[in-house]
Amino acid sequence: MFFEEENYELDGHTVTLRAPKPEDAEILIEYLKTVCDETPFLSQYGDEVKLTVEDELKFIERRNESETGYLILVFEDGEFAGNMSFERVGTSRRAQHRASIGIAYFQKNTGHGLGKLTLKRLLKLIKDSGYEQAELTVLEGNERAKHLYESLGFKEIGRISKANKYDDGTFRDDILMVAEL
Ligand SMILES: CC(C)(COP(=O)(O)OP(=O)(O)OC[C@H]1O[C@@H](n2cnc3c(N)ncnc32)[C@H](O)[C@@H]1OP(=O)(O)O)[C@@H](O)C(=O)NCCC(=O)NCCS
Repeated sequence: MFFEEENYELDGHTVTLRAPKPEDAEILIEYLKTVCDETPFLSQYGDEVKLTVEDELKFIERRNESETGYLILVFEDGEFAGNMSFERVGTSRRAQHRASIGIAYFQKNTGHGLGKLTLKRLLKLIKDSGYEQAELTVLEGNERAKHLYESLGFKEIGRISKANKYDDGTFRDDILMVAEL
């Protein structure tokens, strides 16, 4: 769905939430490469991001036209900070109450409440869209994210042990979390 722009205030800064536009394609690719390398907590390395501008344009169009989810870009004082999204889990009728969430900001934008402000808004949007539960996966060791999710009602419901293997041979579990809305 297409998200109509909203503005909030955080610590004297203006936070803008809006739908992606075609002209955002290049910054979205660069953003993905950067955030994947800034922490070990996303699902891939930056050098695995092989998206072309054309792929990204199609992705933006698909997300804005989706009937079951949103992709929302987040800006602080007009500067792109990252994005958050949700989409229905699968297509079966039995799963139509479940929404899956993604969220990632540049490290320089983290740690001052942006996650809490925006995820709260996203959870309301998910509920208002008719979903009954929100789901996400957080990697073992991502204490900041886990704390944030727990503070907004998510509970750990299971783990896939050693789901992530790093280039240095170490592992991290995937932690599955669910919030009933
Ligand atoms: C995860 C993420 C979205 C959180 O957003 P954020 O803006 O940093 O989070 P906030 O500042 O709103 O809130 C963080 C909370 O964790 C707490 N926190 C910070 N560091 C912490 C730590 N090491 N351990 C536990 N809690 C911590 C903060 O005090 C705050 O809690 P509070 O509101 O109760 O005080 C953001 O850090 C991010 O994008 N990280 C990189 C990508 C990523 O990990 N994405 C999530 C994938 S599941």
